[in-house]
Amino acid sequence: MRHIEQKYGIIGASEEIKQVIRIIEQVAPSNISILIYGESGVGKELVAKALHDLSLRKHGPYLIVNCGAIPSGTIESEFFGHKRGSYTGAVEDRKGFFETADKGTIVLDEIGELPLEMQVKLLRTLEQGDITRVGESTSRKVNVRVIGATNRELPGEVQAGRFRQDLYFRLKTIMIRIPPLREHKNDIPMLAEYFMMQYADEHNVAYKPITPQAMNLLMEASWEGNVRELKNFVQSVFVLENGKMISAEIVSQHLGSSEEKYYYDTRFPVRVNKETDQVERELILRQLFLIRQDVEEIKQKLAPININDEVTLNKMKDISRYIKQSDMDDINIDLQQDDRTMQEIERDTILKTMEKYYGSKRKTAQALGMSERTLYRKIKEYNLQD
Ligand SMILES: Nc1ncnc2c1ncn2[C@@H]1O[C@H](COP(=O)(O)OP(=O)(O)O)[C@@H](O)[C@H]1O
Ligand SMILES: [Mg+2]
Repeated sequence: MRHIEQKYGIIGASEEIKQVIRIIEQVAPSNISILIYGESGVGKELVAKALHDLSLRKHGPYLIVNCGAIPSGTIESEFFGHKRGSYTGAVEDRKGFFETADKGTIVLDEIGELPLEMQVKLLRTLEQGDITRVGESTSRKVNVRVIGATNRELPGEVQAGRFRQDLYFRLKTIMIRIPPLREHKNDIPMLAEYFMMQYADEHNVAYKPITPQAMNLLMEASWEGNVRELKNFVQSVFVLENGKMISAEIVSQHLGSSEEKYYYDTRFPVRVNKETDQVERELILRQLFLIRQDVEEIKQKLAPININDEVTLNKMKDISRYIKQSDMDDINIDLQQDDRTMQEIERDTILKTMEKYYGSKRKTAQALGMSERTLYRKIKEYNLQD
């Protein structure tokens, strides 16, 4: 098996990756704000986490905020908190992300999407080290290290008037550019093998090597979605091929058949909306893989069913523990060539779950595996509140 070279979870032996690691090591201990720039899927979050872990703040909070996902109406209060009664719905005093991240690190992901008014306020916080809660008139000191991440070219955004030049200058003093995967193709074999092993390990299945010919194909592919796409690809192919050794034929078949950029099998009739958050997309794919594996197992076990057979019974018990009724509902939806968008599916699922728990947001959030804050945001976003 290939030797996996990695530092702080960042895999790669290429000069490009080593350079990134060197910069991380140089700048992590300081308190200076940092801008991480790179296409989607190159590992910006991984690098941000390494910066935090190598800093003196490593025991402090670490917060990732997706600037593009917060509705512009609530963003100031989310960032800086608010005073009770400062607007309808502000029923109690609340602290925002910056106070929550005090003595730690805050990652402003997709910082290019921050509304201009917030950019002004962020600059002020960076320069003066304080924030003002919405509805209050005095500021509070915060001690937070800010890491911005972006896949947009900020100079272009500045020119277009969407990003403030002063904030850009403030952030770019230390810029870490993470190269796209096509600029360090020689890391592909190591990454691919690592992701296969990781998958095999997490799901308790036997690891199968990738043949050298298959590896050549992987190295030639364009990977516009970078490491994230490569990871999704090898793991999903592994699952779809039921854990077979990955040959060149299999790779070319899957590479060729992928109509959607991050999407490899038309047997899953989920319509993927390009704008849908990639993380959610990944979660859904992952769930579908698991369900598919389970269904395969059920089919195998049901064929020669013999209820007196204790092994079968135990196996079925195992499987039923795995598949909750809600998953089965989802399978039905998916198999009926559902043509709702991902947002519509999410909206419906939230509604159904809320009904099931008689409107309890805590239970709903728990059942859906999301934070209450996210649930509230989605409720607002989808207009679910009466
Ligand atoms: N060099 C790398 N080594 C190991 N895993 C990586 C590397 N680069 C990216 N990944 C993985 O790829 C996925 C996408 O990385 P992420 O940091 O979320 O990318 P970005 O924030 O740039 O879109 C994650 O699962 C991450 O762990
Ligand atoms: Mg990211």
